[in-house]
Order: sequence, then structure tokens, then C-alpha cells
Amino acid sequence: MTLPNHTPELKLREEFNRWAEAGRGEQMEENHLPIVIPMLALMELQSADRVLDVGCGSGWLVRRLAEHLPKGAIVGVDVSDEMVRRAQLAGAALPNASFLQGTAEEIPAPSDSFTKVISIESAYYWHDVARGLGEIFRVLAPGGSAWILINYYRDNLDCHQWKQNFEIPTSLLSAAEWQEQFHAAGFRKVQHQQIPDTSPTPEVYTGRWFRDASQLQRFKTNGALLVTGVKP
Ligand SMILES: C[S@@+](CC[C@H](N)C(=O)[O-])C[C@H]1O[C@@H](n2cnc3c(N)ncnc32)[C@H](O)[C@@H]1O
Repeated sequence: MTLPNHTPELKLREEFNRWAEAGRGEQMEENHLPIVIPMLALMELQSADRVLDVGCGSGWLVRRLAEHLPKGAIVGVDVSDEMVRRAQLAGAALPNASFLQGTAEEIPAPSDSFTKVISIESAYYWHDVARGLGEIFRVLAPGGSAWILINYYRDNLDCHQWKQNFEIPTSLLSAAEWQEQFHAAGFRKVQHQQIPDTSPTPEVYTGRWFRDASQLQRFKTNGALLVTGVKP
């Protein structure tokens, strides 16, 4: 897919291509696994599920799901062609895993294609959240469900400082606002919950995303926001 040169997608693509080239796509598996494992436990995946991962990054979750569901079909979509290239290389031996360059706002898949759509730590970067959720609704088959998991949301006060580090526009919505957006896209049985990250926290924090280790610990205890909905 060739993206036009003047769109917000171009900025996203350039930014996340830089992340991919710096190896950050692969690092995210370790960072996100502690919140993804509890989400997978809630999902009740079926052996023949057709799953789409929107903003799949380096594709680690697509590969895990493809190994776990050999009769299923798992597709990853990402705006960054460099993330997609790396995901394709790493997943080449898995016949039921595939990767496409594309955006949440224009998912390159036919309507009613998937039984489940997931998205991990991506949705607050979408330049048009309403359109992204509308597209997820379109590509889900009736009865299918959407699972959006994010660490950057208004109700967790200990992530608000991230804004000053972002190089691209982001949305800081509350859980209630995410639920409203799900309803507006057509989803029913819309729910949210917080998923704490119970992985060990180092005694000293030297990164640039948190003030100190105690803020990081509070952020992890509050947990990630999981918003779910079903297409009737
Ligand atoms: C923080 S990374 C998370 C990647 C992956 N889900 C993971 O957990 O490792 C965010 C990803 O979302 C992708 N992304 C951001 N906005 C997007 C959009 N509008 N459409 C598709 N992908 C998008 C980025 O390219 C990036 O790979």
C-alpha cells in the first residue's frame, strides 16, 4: 500500500519506521506481555478464530497467536512499512500468519473478515479514533469482538507526562470516552477494565517516561485500559 505524502499517516509511518530501525518493535514484546497475557486469558480464543492485530508492530503477538491457533488465521496491519517488513521476515515460517501495511483508519481487508480484532498500545496514536473503530467494526464478522488495550489514557494520572515525549499527536481519552466511541461505532456489550502490570519494578528508574520508580509502580498498579465490544 502506498500512502500519500501529505497525510498524518506519513508522520506516523516515519516515526514508527525510526522505532523499528532502533529495534524498539522487538523490545515491546517484553514490555507489553505482562498486560497482554491477562487480556488473552479473557478472550476465550477458539481454534478457528480469524484474528486481526491493528498496529501489530514487529508482529510478536501475531506470531504467538498463529502458533497457538494453527487452524486459525492471524493478520497484522501496521502503518510502518519497516515494522511490517520485519514482521514478515520473522513470521515467514508460519503459514497462518500474514502482515500488511495499512492504517486503522483504512484497514486493507474486506468487511466481515475477522472473528476478533485486537490492538495493543496503538489506538492513542490513531489520528482518527472514530474512523479506526468504524473500520474495526466493518471488518469484524457479526458476533465478533474488539479488544483495545492501551497504557495512555486519562484516568491513569501517572501517564500524562508522556505527552511531552511524544513526537506525534496522540489522544488522551478517558475510559468513559473510549466506551462512547465504541458505542458510536456500532459496538454493543461495551465494557472496560484495568489490567495491572504485576511484573517486577526496578528499585531505581532512570528512563524518561516516569519521574521515578514509585511513579512507575503506581502507573503499573493502576494498569492498562482494556476496552471491549461486540458487533451485533
Ligand atoms: C507502541 S507500538 C505497539 C506495537 C505492538 N502492538 C506491540 O505491542 O508491540 C504502536 C504501533 O502502532 C502503529 N500505529 C500507530 N498508528 C497507527 C495507525 N493509525 N494505523 C496502523 N498502525 C498504527 C505503529 O506503527 C506502531 O507499530
